[in-house]
Amino acid sequence: MTINTAMVIGAGQMGGGIAQVMAAAGHRVYLADSDPAAIASRLEFIDGLLSKDVAKGRVDEAAKTATLANLIPVSGLTEAVKCDLVVEAIVENIEAKTAVFRELDVICPDRTILASNTSSLPITEIAAATARPEKVIGMHFMNPVPVMKLVEVVSGLATAPATLADIRQEALDLGKIPVEARDVPGFVSNRVLMPMINEAVYCLYEGVASAEDIDTVMKLGMNHPMGPLTLADFIGLDTCLYIMEVLYRGYADSKYRPCPLLRQYVNAGWHGKKSGRGFFNYA
Ligand code: CAA
Ligand code: NAD
Repeated sequence: MTINTAMVIGAGQMGGGIAQVMAAAGHRVYLADSDPAAIASRLEFIDGLLSKDVAKGRVDEAAKTATLANLIPVSGLTEAVKCDLVVEAIVENIEAKTAVFRELDVICPDRTILASNTSSLPITEIAAATARPEKVIGMHFMNPVPVMKLVEVVSGLATAPATLADIRQEALDLGKIPVEARDVPGFVSNRVLMPMINEAVYCLYEGVASAEDIDTVMKLGMNHPMGPLTLADFIGLDTCLYIMEVLYRGYADSKYRPCPLLRQYVNAGWHGKKSGRGFFNYA
């Protein structure tokens, strides 16, 4: 199936990035969010990124204008009736996600593929909220979406091979490399990444080293582009906690217990870079 028209639900850092790369690839993209201010500020952010690309000679003004024209802010999900593909990128919460998929299942025509950008939640359970589980799939982009090449593609129990083939092709059309993972908590990416981040938080909690030094060890010692605490702030500490909780519950294994310090920061509203404060200060 050729994808021409799409909707992205959630105009946060992930939804905004997904909408941007789809619009740049020539798709008409409806961008929805329960918070209209989030859409407005995301469109402004994308405008800034594209202006930088023009200044660096990577794209011309016409391409920038075309990309922005392809991005259409919407206040509800009704425009999904026109879409070949919908990608959900809202908060990492199973109840919130299944509610959106239930609504989409009623609005969308049979041909529409419903994808979730979930970091860790079961695609099979999200799909079961719809009457079209064969058309539901995980399409897990990495942050920041315009820069990172990977899309982790996750089929649920009932996902049809044709849906998988369409989403693999869509990832390639967006300039990304698709990699398949089974529908297990955290898939590959966050089963490996998030326990490392959580362990870095434990190091801070136990006073093993300062936040700066923990990050320096991993940057200079392991050549990571960002230290794990900076990366946690970048991802969002709320998202990191939700993912650890999914791993902890999903595997019923104490090795995935979220660090109490991570929970305390989230309870304090310290959600990382997006809230201005996390392990580091962004004010
Ligand atoms: N959105 C779009 N582009 C961004 C961006 C953002 N939020 N942040 C940085 N960039 C772009 C910059 O604009 C810059 O582009 P140009 O080269 O065109 O100027 C480019 O990235 C490099 O940025 P900087 O020079 O400012 O900084 P850097 O060299 O340190 O790179 C980085 C920034 C690409 C984010 C790099 O630090 C990095 O790769 N960090 C690790 C990212 C990572 O691990 N991502 C995966 C997170 S886990 C995940 O996504 C899955 C999950 O479910 C949680
Ligand atoms: P974010 O907090 O930056 O943005 C989430 C957006 O969703 C917000 O603008 C919020 O207003 C909106 N929203 C929340 N509930 C909604 C609803 N019911 N209907 C419509 N909009 C709603 O979060 P994010 O970092 O963009 O993460 C979004 C999803 O992507 C999560 O599932 C997360 O696990 C996943 N993800 C995150 C990263 C990352 O590095 N942050 C990477 C890959 C995948």
